[in-house]
Amino acid sequence: MLKGKNIIVGITGSIAAYKAAYLVRGLIKKGCDVQVVMTPSGKEFITPVTLSALTGKPVVSEFFTANTGSWNSHVDLGLWADALVIAPASASTIGKMANGIADNMMITTYLSAKAPVFVAPAMDLDMFAHPSTQRNLQTLRSYGNHIIEPTSGELASHLIGKGRMEEPEVIIEYLENFFAQKETLKKKILITAGPTHEKLDPVRFIGNYSSGKMGFALAEECANRGAEVTLIAGPVSVKTIHPNIKRIDVESAREMHDAALSCFEDQDAAILCAAVADYRPENIADMKLKRSGETMNINLVPNPDIAAALGQIKKDAQTLVGFALETNDEESNALGKMERKNLDFIVLNSLQDKGAGFRVDTNKITILNRNGDKKEFALKLKSEVASDIIDELVKVSDNK
Ligand code: CTP
Repeated sequence: MLKGKNIIVGITGSIAAYKAAYLVRGLIKKGCDVQVVMTPSGKEFITPVTLSALTGKPVVSEFFTANTGSWNSHVDLGLWADALVIAPASASTIGKMANGIADNMMITTYLSAKAPVFVAPAMDLDMFAHPSTQRNLQTLRSYGNHIIEPTSGELASHLIGKGRMEEPEVIIEYLENFFAQKETLKKKILITAGPTHEKLDPVRFIGNYSSGKMGFALAEECANRGAEVTLIAGPVSVKTIHPNIKRIDVESAREMHDAALSCFEDQDAAILCAAVADYRPENIADMKLKRSGETMNINLVPNPDIAAALGQIKKDAQTLVGFALETNDEESNALGKMERKNLDFIVLNSLQDKGAGFRVDTNKITILNRNGDKKEFALKLKSEVASDIIDELVKVSDNK
């Protein structure tokens, strides 16, 4: 799978830099052509001589080669590569990547690279856990970069070992899987994400706590696997700039409904991840509502059910996936929804599970399938949950 692939390994200033030598050696063993690019502080932790001996090529680190003065082209390198693997990635480099601070050859190569990017963070736990690092990693994910980090599945132990660079053989396995499934999802996929806002007056709305993170993680997972994604997003602050994602921003349930219905026909699948308001105020006041009297009543009328509407017009070849967020009688409620909305499978989150649901980066799901299958998953990052859901989608649609 990796044979013949051109891989840039970017090495930054981290104590884990020695592991990069094992990574480079492993990639070469798999038949890759490897070019090492180092940051200036990377060279403080491992000598370029070791790496150039392994790759048979000079290590690139400066914009100019010192003795000849010849220009190292980050653009050419970026075009040559089938993948850019930054391992170890220090907090500082991750911050520069997220913000486009191109003050060394490795970052300029990153910014010019057209190839998929894999980042293996390496730092101490406090640095890793700092909101700034987490925000930067989230930004990299929104750029479609793959963050490879040790995971154990359970949140408590999940934090142990966080920040430690993933082992070279695991990174290689990740790359192998990536190339195995890359472009294999030749499908058009519609995804709804985020909350809806139902207007009361020019300055107020009824909404909910959905952040859109799960839906965006799904969109990125599909796009990374080669799908053409249409992402219909309610009002959210998450961002994505993946070239395979076409984003349509909406505000209300009715706008989301209209957008989803207008593009469903030529989709292979739809994943309905949005937390759609079931009701909206009957009237939207033209002027700001004024305080008057002791109590106030707002009349609510039902919104269209997008999942059910798509379920009604769905063709046999189309796969429809819904979500259920439940607090009680989880499974029977979810199964009822799958039936009523004519879904192929439903992803159940229980609010009873710590770390699942709204506004968090993790989720714990159970997938219930039409043929009675039930798969329970551990608490994971939403990006990993997205991968589990898309694996199921691939399985279900392949069996159609
Ligand atoms: N859904 C939708 N359009 C709506 C409401 C929900 O597409 N108007 C989708 C959601 O995106 C999700 C699934 O339906 O995939 C959730 O089912 P739903 O019936 O909305 O759950 P609840 O509203 O929580 O239902 P209930 O109030 O019965 O628990």
